[in-house]
Amino acid sequence: MRVLHFLWWSIPLVASAIDYTQYVNLFIGTEGPIKGSAYSSGNVFPGAALPFGAVKVGIDTTRWDTSFAANGGYTPDGNVTAITMLHVSGTGGAPSYGLVPQMPLTSLEGVNLMDNMTYMQPRTKLDEASVGFYKTSLQNGVVAEMSASQHAGIMRYAYPKDDEKYVVVDLSHFLPSKGKREQWYSNGVLERSEDGRQYSGYGVWREGWTGGGDFRVYFCSEFDTVPSSAQFFSGPATDPYWPNATFTSTTFTNSTSIQGGVTGYQYADRIGALFKFPTNATTVMSKVGISWISVDKACRFISDEIPHWDLNTTVSQAEEKWNTEVLSKIEVKTENATELEMFYTALYHGHLLPADRTGENPHWESDEPYYDDFYTLWDTFRCLHSLHTLIVPDRQEGVIRAMIDIWRHERFMPEGRSHNHNGRVQGGSNSDNVLADSYVKGLRGGINWADGYKAMKTNAEVVPYNNFDFEDPTGSTKEGRGALEDWLKYGYVTPNFGRSLSKTVDYALNDFSLSQVARGEAPDDVALYLNRSSGWQKMWHANVTSLNFTGFLAPTFANGSIEDYNPLSCGACDWLAISYEGTPWEYSWTIPFDMRTLIARMGGVNLTEARLDAMFIPGLSESDANGNSAGTMIFNPGNEPSFSTPFLYNYLPGRQWKSVLRAKEVADEFYGDDRSGLPGNDDAGALSSWLVWNWLGLYPVVTQPVYLLLSPRFDDISMKLGNGTLRITADRQGGAGIYVQSVKVNGMQWNQSWVSHDDITKNGGGLIEFVLGEEAVGWDIGNVPPSPGYIA
Ligand SMILES: *[C@@H]1O[C@H](CO)[C@@H](O)[C@H](O)[C@H]1NC(C)=O
Ligand SMILES: *[C@@H]1O[C@H](CO)[C@@H](O)[C@H](O)[C@H]1NC(C)=O
Ligand SMILES: *[C@@H]1O[C@H](CO)[C@@H](O)[C@H](O)[C@H]1NC(C)=O
Ligand SMILES: *[C@@H]1O[C@H](CO)[C@@H](O)[C@H](O)[C@H]1NC(C)=O
Ligand SMILES: *[C@@H]1O[C@H](CO)[C@@H](O)[C@H](O)[C@H]1NC(C)=O
Ligand SMILES: *[C@@H]1O[C@H](CO)[C@@H](O)[C@H](O)[C@H]1NC(C)=O
Ligand SMILES: *[C@@H]1O[C@H](CO)[C@@H](O)[C@H](O)[C@H]1NC(C)=O
Ligand SMILES: *[C@@H]1O[C@H](CO)[C@@H](O)[C@H](O)[C@H]1NC(C)=O
Ligand SMILES: *[C@@H]1O[C@H](CO)[C@@H](O)[C@H](O)[C@H]1NC(C)=O
Ligand SMILES: *[C@@H]1O[C@H](CO)[C@@H](O)[C@H](O)[C@H]1NC(C)=O
Ligand SMILES: *[C@@H]1O[C@H](CO)[C@@H](O)[C@H](O)[C@H]1NC(C)=O
Ligand SMILES: *[C@@H]1O[C@H](CO)[C@@H](O)[C@H](O)[C@H]1NC(C)=O
Repeated sequence: MRVLHFLWWSIPLVASAIDYTQYVNLFIGTEGPIKGSAYSSGNVFPGAALPFGAVKVGIDTTRWDTSFAANGGYTPDGNVTAITMLHVSGTGGAPSYGLVPQMPLTSLEGVNLMDNMTYMQPRTKLDEASVGFYKTSLQNGVVAEMSASQHAGIMRYAYPKDDEKYVVVDLSHFLPSKGKREQWYSNGVLERSEDGRQYSGYGVWREGWTGGGDFRVYFCSEFDTVPSSAQFFSGPATDPYWPNATFTSTTFTNSTSIQGGVTGYQYADRIGALFKFPTNATTVMSKVGISWISVDKACRFISDEIPHWDLNTTVSQAEEKWNTEVLSKIEVKTENATELEMFYTALYHGHLLPADRTGENPHWESDEPYYDDFYTLWDTFRCLHSLHTLIVPDRQEGVIRAMIDIWRHERFMPEGRSHNHNGRVQGGSNSDNVLADSYVKGLRGGINWADGYKAMKTNAEVVPYNNFDFEDPTGSTKEGRGALEDWLKYGYVTPNFGRSLSKTVDYALNDFSLSQVARGEAPDDVALYLNRSSGWQKMWHANVTSLNFTGFLAPTFANGSIEDYNPLSCGACDWLAISYEGTPWEYSWTIPFDMRTLIARMGGVNLTEARLDAMFIPGLSESDANGNSAGTMIFNPGNEPSFSTPFLYNYLPGRQWKSVLRAKEVADEFYGDDRSGLPGNDDAGALSSWLVWNWLGLYPVVTQPVYLLLSPRFDDISMKLGNGTLRITADRQGGAGIYVQSVKVNGMQWNQSWVSHDDITKNGGGLIEFVLGEEAVGWDIGNVPPSPGYIA
């Protein structure tokens, strides 16, 4: 019966003809609470890119407020200094990339090519963007349009008719962060054809937020028009701590090659190129290919991916790719244009990172896929990868294979990683959670799970060398678990290490992840890691009181005594604080594998409910992690540690309706369709994926094959899974009610607040039919969601 029932739905839908890119608004998440400013914004990248694109083509702009970083390159109020090929999206911390620039100019009067502040351009109107396309209008009259393929960009510069026409390439350009985790230009090489129509070379940069030594990016570029003159220029290396740089004279050469300094020299000269085009040329087009391996590959990317001069073709191909690979995977029926826009934009933002650099790893050769720009797993493990596992399982498989291959060659899987450098561990080794989540959901494909488990064991057993990060020298921030010694010795992390409290709950989940994968790969290890996963309980102190509640996680010394502290605060919640970017109150809720013990420790169902309620009372927050916080509740909608909290009522029998209420309140208050429509840094799509789940009416319990049931925002949803379709319907009985009155799963009446992965994927997918209404109903009296980490 059931098979028959799904048959009609699994037929490829007419829907694939729908152009979902029309619903994507690339500017959602580019501004913060102050209109016109990127401060405290989603930091999303609004330029042109393919799903998981290796290049992301967009503008870089100035910004004078040093208290935040415009990590996607774009700010609404800055001046354009370049159009560049490499960006990340949604990240906090400090920027990576803004690399391999071009800048169209119409005059050199007053211009010092060494000083981008002498030629930066205000914009004369709002930039325009659509999937695969970006357009900016500069004060000098140039209209610059751009698009992207997987490894190359194509630009069209329309110049005012009678003005001079230049393209400047300042190879030493990068996105600055004014001293904080700054990137550096180090060296470079430029070559050009005799006629100046082609140029190529590489630049060498270093550091940035993830740290790391020199990395090389090769490029190959051509123009559609022969320049009337082409010259290279150079000048002494400048202080990267802009704007205190001093600018000296520029030296020009007619030579067809130039080098910043001997190979490897880290303070080489800045170098660049100046192309002048005939005055009668009204538009100049250019293509730039990017490779991490060689100039030849960079050139081949252009000829393979953009073998023409038609920007529109590249845009159409990008739209097609986004439609087929990502956006058509979830079809929702609604009359509400705002919600369509928010939903498909969130889906789009959830598929920009990590970057697919398969075949582009400069450090080793391998048949495995390769991904870079994990930015970071601390953000994305909670619910973004669970979305990828459901709707783009091939990508998730590739990402896991890449992570395992990184372990094979570099001893540890990444936590954060950019420009091929593992770096910046904020809490636990969250690659463990990403692997476990896919493993328990049956993702196999070409993944070598024996190696995957070994990679996880490395995280659990091998102390990573201390890189003495200046922001926290107590243990490694490069990879692995920096406070593993304490974890193994005491079962929790003592205040001898920075972020001891949040590391303790993170390591607990990480070891639970090991126990999950061990069930299949190393059954003898299951008890060991389950046991370790209970370590958070050793940090739970029944005598700590805050607001009206008793029993909290507290920073705990080796002898079991505790540090005097306030569970509502962690100061700036930075690298040396007791907990990272979240208060002890928030981190108390991050025990998804053993909610049963947590609820008992909190004093039972009713007290847990009251404590959850307190999370959502405005005005109770004492957190001052400013840039990372939104609202005044203890629950912080703008950052990841709080992600699952609104949905935990599902663990309290009959209280699922409160999860529904919170889900709606938070989405309605903090998410929107305008430029400030994200409550914090999107973090590689983490926040966006949270909204997608919320509106699907499901939330994944990470590391378990379990989804909590909420209430769908749409009346009919159809998700194309790796092997079938999950359909979710809502019968609102003619009203606008959001509360679940009753629900059927695969035709069966359901009284539990969750479904298993099998429920929604086996037998060609699944069907969840909600009946919704105005009245809060305690329908969820069946088994509460599992607590597989519970140890009697
Ligand atoms: C942009 O450039 C204009 C004109 O050069 C200048 O007045 C303004 O201060 C600049 N603003 C920023 C944010 O760079
Ligand atoms: C501008 O030039 C400075 C100094 O060379 C450099 O640090 C910065 O990255 C450049 N780009 C922007 C967007 O300001
Ligand atoms: C720039 O120079 C000023 C004045 O010398 C100094 O106060 C400031 O600290 C410098 N800033 C940086 C980032 O070096
Ligand atoms: C480069 O060539 C141009 C035109 O031939 C000439 O005017 C100029 O002096 C040359 N510049 C240098 C630095 O040799
Ligand atoms: C510009 O002028 C040159 C000769 O002066 C000519 O060869 C070329 O075709 C013209 N280009 C355009 C776009 O009109
Ligand atoms: C490219 O597409 C834009 C927008 O659809 C259109 O205005 C323009 O004419 C097209 N250009 C070409 C060369 O087809
Ligand atoms: C459409 O959705 C938005 C965002 O959820 C909401 O604010 C608005 O009220 C909805 N409009 C209608 C007509 O329901
Ligand atoms: C679990 O840990 C306790 C100490 O914390 C230890 O006594 C017990 O042997 C451990 N059990 C396993 C299966 O490792
Ligand atoms: C704590 O208890 C007091 C007195 O019963 C009550 O007024 C207050 O609302 C409670 N606060 C919270 C956060 O529950
Ligand atoms: C609370 O209990 C801890 C041990 O769990 C102990 O170190 C601390 O002194 C106790 N505090 C008070 C105020 O009793
Ligand atoms: C918990 O609260 C419910 C009402 O919300 C009440 O019926 C029940 O008696 C309470 N249980 C306990 C143990 O206080
Ligand atoms: C799809 O089904 C096939 C055959 O049952 C299985 O081998 C494969 O792993 C499944 N793929 C996913 C993504 O579940």
